[in-house]
Amino acid sequence: MSLDRIKALRKSLHDYNFRYYVSDEPIISDFEFDKLLLELSELEQKHPDAFDPNSPTQRVGGHVVKSFEAVLHKRPMLSLSNSYNRDDIASFIKRCQSVCEEELDLSIELKYDGVAISLWYENRKLLRAVTRGDGLNGDDVSVNVRTIKNIPLVLPDLAPNELEVRGEIYFTSDSFEELNKKRFDNDGTKFANPRNAASGTLKLQDSSEVANRRLSALMYSVYSDEFEFKTHLKSLNLLREWGFPVPNEEIGWVRSCKSIDDIFEYLNFWDSQRHSLPFAIDGAVIKVDSILIQEKIGFTAKSPRWAIAYKFNSEKALTRLLDVKYQIGRTGAITPVAILDPVWISGTVIRRASIHNADQIAKLNLYEGDSVWIEKGGEIIPKILEVEISKRSIGSDPVEFVLNCPDCNSLLVRKEGDAQHYCLNVDSCKPQIKARLHHFIHRKAMNIDGLGTETVDQLVEMGLIYKPSGLYDLDEDDWFKLDKFRDKSVQNVLAGIEQSKSVSFERVLFSIGIRHVGSTVAKKLSRHFGNMDAIINASETELLDVEDIGPMIASSLRLYFSNESYLIEIEKLKAIGLNFESDLEVDSGNILVGFSFVISGVFEFFSRDEIKRSVEDNGGKIVSSVSSKTDYLLMGKGVGPSKIKKADLHGVKHLTEMEFLKWIGSSK
Ligand code: IVH
Repeated sequence: MSLDRIKALRKSLHDYNFRYYVSDEPIISDFEFDKLLLELSELEQKHPDAFDPNSPTQRVGGHVVKSFEAVLHKRPMLSLSNSYNRDDIASFIKRCQSVCEEELDLSIELKYDGVAISLWYENRKLLRAVTRGDGLNGDDVSVNVRTIKNIPLVLPDLAPNELEVRGEIYFTSDSFEELNKKRFDNDGTKFANPRNAASGTLKLQDSSEVANRRLSALMYSVYSDEFEFKTHLKSLNLLREWGFPVPNEEIGWVRSCKSIDDIFEYLNFWDSQRHSLPFAIDGAVIKVDSILIQEKIGFTAKSPRWAIAYKFNSEKALTRLLDVKYQIGRTGAITPVAILDPVWISGTVIRRASIHNADQIAKLNLYEGDSVWIEKGGEIIPKILEVEISKRSIGSDPVEFVLNCPDCNSLLVRKEGDAQHYCLNVDSCKPQIKARLHHFIHRKAMNIDGLGTETVDQLVEMGLIYKPSGLYDLDEDDWFKLDKFRDKSVQNVLAGIEQSKSVSFERVLFSIGIRHVGSTVAKKLSRHFGNMDAIINASETELLDVEDIGPMIASSLRLYFSNESYLIEIEKLKAIGLNFESDLEVDSGNILVGFSFVISGVFEFFSRDEIKRSVEDNGGKIVSSVSSKTDYLLMGKGVGPSKIKKADLHGVKHLTEMEFLKWIGSSK
């Protein structure tokens, strides 16, 4: 009885879900839906034997995955070749037309700016969802993909038993805004764009967090041995009938076309109207419609010859300059920031733009209240391209760079040859003090558990600290004086501070915030010199001997160590017990110099990024594909058989993760 009810509930809930998220015509209220979902969830708890990974209850997530299994794609996930102008498209059409006698039918659709996914269905149930990876092997991210509401977990009877559907996973502009707002409130960071956010979210280890973030999907291709697809456009329609989200033909997200004029009509329309879409796109994709002709035209090693992407220029928008504010960095550098009338670009609301320095204000010829053109590249901070002079109000005044520090009122100084103005009131200008402490506690620096930027600001405002060493002098009573600090949080932060004493020297060196000394430079210095005293005592020439240290960094280091108050602070931190000795072998950073590596598979001790960084930090070179010039295939779990074959063909040596670890002498 209960089992029948479970079955019936699952079927109805899948159907309601489809009507809500795919066909956009809900037939029951959210309240009714939640009630049925709760009933199902309670029944499933009573009948654990009836567990189904594709039950509608699984959409809320709850699985924690340590690492994602590498999976070999049934057919490689290729990329698209790009076109940028009418001539490129004309020659694409000509090439495709040359293989068929009848007039060529084409289709055109949007190029969604997200992350590619391959969905495998067996017996009409979602078996696996795999990322693109290197095109041959991807990561099995099924538990995370099951939380995406518009991806069907179970297909209707009319769908083939076995099916592979590919498409793009993305954030709608609204979900992206909401996510970034929460993230910013939480830890002061933001995703640069919806694509990065989607890719980061798919790799989260906790699927309930994925469910909270509300990803979406749109599908663009399908394969099945049991079904003959005639045209691309018809296959999209079939996908829709089988419950998949596909581009909406009625409102012109996808259309058929025959001529280059049809194509440009579409491109011009969506280039100018893309801000009206609920998601970000970076262009459009033109495809030969007939599957038979697609097969005739075939592929290159990297991409189909029957499809081409057309990339739009990065999106621009016109908005008004409301104000210019001045940010004070940890080194006292003053950066003007344009406060803008909020405007949407590429799926993000833009409210501010950096103007870099006084010269840039002059170069832009910026007046108060000007209308300005904004462009958003791949970065978080957009830039002002130019002023729309035709819209300038009569009688408005030019923007004048401030003469005094907007916070402590000290006279600003600009040294010869430097584009930046500085506030030299290092010891008592509060924004500088706060910014130095923010840098010190940052995740990539001392990474102090239980301590965030807001708390640091409060400590500074209350006059409890003004230098990093001050953090180590605070006792329980001091912490209890802060808002929101109770027994547990106080114990937490005290433990976090204590733990920071074991942070490696290279990170301590980065944390103290010497201008131009980022984490890579800090690592190189600590490897070369081995301890702080050696760096303090090094002459400019000795500093210049270190790989990648140029005159700018060397003179910044000398300037820093010539300041008595910084030296006193270093002594204090030393006395507190922070690490000022490197435990890295001196100058071991070059052991992989001259060797090139191809990385494949999933590693036990490193993420993919970490292992790449480790190769590069040790002087090695990463290459993307195996050739006779490659020295090593660095193999993780699930390394692609075709990679191994190719390596053997070219005499490329195999290297396991353990062998690599031994080589670099690290115990990660
Ligand atoms: S068709 C062989 N259609 O663009 C690849 N791709 O640069 C056939 N993409 O990784 C893909 N929107 O993830 C196709 N409407 C669309 C697309 C699309 C976005 C992505 C796709 C692929 C990348 C290729």
